[in-house]
Amino acid sequence: AAGGEQHIEDFAFSFEGPFGKFDQNQLQRGLQIYTEVCSACHGMQYVYFRNLADEGGLGYSEDQARAYAENFEVWDPELSDGDGDFRTATPADHFPANTAAGAPDLSLMAKARAGFHGPYGLGINQAVRGMGGAEYIASILTGYTGHEKEENNVTFYENTAFPGGWISMAPPLVGEDVEYADGHSNDLHHEAMDVSAFLMWAAEPKMMARQQAGFIGVFSLLILSVLLYLTNKRIWAPIK
Ligand code: HEM
Repeated sequence: AAGGEQHIEDFAFSFEGPFGKFDQNQLQRGLQIYTEVCSACHGMQYVYFRNLADEGGLGYSEDQARAYAENFEVWDPELSDGDGDFRTATPADHFPANTAAGAPDLSLMAKARAGFHGPYGLGINQAVRGMGGAEYIASILTGYTGHEKEENNVTFYENTAFPGGWISMAPPLVGEDVEYADGHSNDLHHEAMDVSAFLMWAAEPKMMARQQAGFIGVFSLLILSVLLYLTNKRIWAPIK
């Protein structure tokens, strides 16, 4: 409601929890939404095209990443004897920036925003449910109430997830905005989850490797604890 509590829905993403994993097909569908819908206004200038072929991500081959990059033209200042010229993008280039509509860059959005807070800044909610960056984005995309208002010639749309309750982004998704090649449901809820998962990956492409390293670390410490306990017993055994 207007000016009311900010509401973030707790979506069940595949990458949550200690054994969570990005869903390769979901990331591919999310890229499709980003490409066909979001990139009209938003940029993603800190992500490289080659990242699409990174392990633990979309599962694209290098050829697929190259084919995707070739849809774009980039300005290369070194071409034409230093005058600069456009050329076809390669996997070594970034996704384009886009500031024309005043929309923020989405490269790091899933980490820049937290969906879950408190209570009282203890972080308990976040420890249990995660930071909620992807939930925040999905909640924005599904949080439009249909009410609009006009202020200083800017239209604002009522949104239950956006702080303050009014956002200047018109509802970008309404459901059935794209046609998925894998036949997955393209209702609003699924589209919102798919693009939010994709933006989580964009902001943290190494999440899977990080979780795995963390697990191995904790597991090794557990084994070390057991060994130390047994060693301790043995050292003190004659004294007892
Ligand atoms: C803001 C996502 C499509 C224009 C935002 C924000 C997110 C987002 C997460 C930031 C909210 C915040 O600052 O906390 C998306 C996604 C899209 C999409 C995932 C595709 C599904 C579009 C399109 C347009 C647009 C197509 C233009 C027609 C804007 C603008 C803002 C914004 C102007 C700033 C809003 C404000 O601060 O009031 N978007 N967006 N977005 N977006 Fe989008």
